[in-house]
Amino acid sequence: MKFFIDTANLAQIKEAKELGILDGVTTNPSLMAKEGIKGQDAVLQHYKTICETVDGDISAEVISTDFAGIVEEGKKLAAIHPNIVVKVPMIKDGVKALKWFTDNGIKTNCTLVFSAGQAILAAKAGATYVSPFIGRIDDSSWDGVELIAQIAQIYSIQGFETEILAASIRNALHIVKCAEAGADVCTCPLDSILGLLKHPLTDIGLAKFLEDAKKM
Ligand code: G3P
Repeated sequence: MKFFIDTANLAQIKEAKELGILDGVTTNPSLMAKEGIKGQDAVLQHYKTICETVDGDISAEVISTDFAGIVEEGKKLAAIHPNIVVKVPMIKDGVKALKWFTDNGIKTNCTLVFSAGQAILAAKAGATYVSPFIGRIDDSSWDGVELIAQIAQIYSIQGFETEILAASIRNALHIVKCAEAGADVCTCPLDSILGLLKHPLTDIGLAKFLEDAKKM
């Protein structure tokens, strides 16, 4: 399973990269706004900086909702760097645009996916990645990880090549459960990635080893 970091924060991207396990980055308009990135030039420049920081797929989201606008915007984003993946919402014109990008050799990430039906449509349109939002599904009292397992089963039976990118990850357990359910990628906040490190018995064991090492 690949690890992406779900942020537009350069310090966090660098910290995850230094861990040596980072395969890519996903962003969205909310994450960009959180970093205070304003205006088209600044947005494009920020994506360029991320691409120059991490050698892996970098998802950059369109904000248009009509076919022509999504294609126009996606072409601009894809021109920034070969690693850009155009992130397109799961709406009617989004599906049409996904197919257009697929036919024109531009990588895509279909975002805001909350059902198996939507995931089938994204795969039929040739999306490179499909992004089910695990945490937001859990928030609405459904089981986000169960959706990952269902999509993994459907894609395997049908031979779809779209990669399942588990998004809206909220904690380390989500990452473990998504790996178990067959996600190809997890995109996570830095805290959730670092949460994988934690176990009290590791801390206790290390303290004891270091204490005993003084007697060696
Ligand atoms: O990038 C999309 C997704 O990961 C958003 O997560 O925590 O806002 O539901 P969250």
